Amino acid sequence: MGNEMMKDISSVLVPREEIEKEVKRIGAAISRDYAGKTPILISVLKGAFIFMADLVRNITVPCTLDFMSVSSYGKGTKTSGQVQIIKDLDTNIEGRDVIIVEDILDSGVTLSYLIRLLQARRPASLAVCALFDKPARHKVEIRLAYKGIEVPNEFIVGYGLDYAEKYRNLPDVCVLKPEIYE
Ligand code: PRP
Repeated sequence: MGNEMMKDISSVLVPREEIEKEVKRIGAAISRDYAGKTPILISVLKGAFIFMADLVRNITVPCTLDFMSVSSYGKGTKTSGQVQIIKDLDTNIEGRDVIIVEDILDSGVTLSYLIRLLQARRPASLAVCALFDKPARHKVEIRLAYKGIEVPNEFIVGYGLDYAEKYRNLPDVCVLKPEIYE
């Protein structure tokens, strides 16, 4: 059966097999680096939910999870660069080894806000992991402890990434046809 959404796609940028390999690699690196510890993985809804689900199954040390929801800062509609918390963590992270799990590092605005916010809660350590990185769009510098795949400056969807909330369920990361968002 064909995928009905593929008619809106111009090309597959990162096929599922490549994503899987990368998630395994990052999971193994985290498992090595956190041996003997119990990190807490924090991801930001909604884009990172698929990566989070796959990543934790490739981590072999005990870990806990929590989710946050922050307001989208508007992607071109607002210029403030302000991010607001819609749903905060349920967990007290003081003294914990925290890993922020993001699907994509784009401008870095979301991550720089989160890092500042979570650092103020005095975790034992704080590391950032992003599966995709779009260097052409960086506005602030973010140090990634775990960095996945660099992607070009194209409108990509799939594996959690959306356009107007759709296409998150595509298993591959795909380039959206310009006529869909123009
Ligand atoms: C996306 C993505 C990151 C953020 C990265 O989320 O999931 O959280 O943008 O962009 P930045 O580096 O420019 O801050 P989005 O706001 O689209 O919400 P979503 O996760 O619900 O798709």
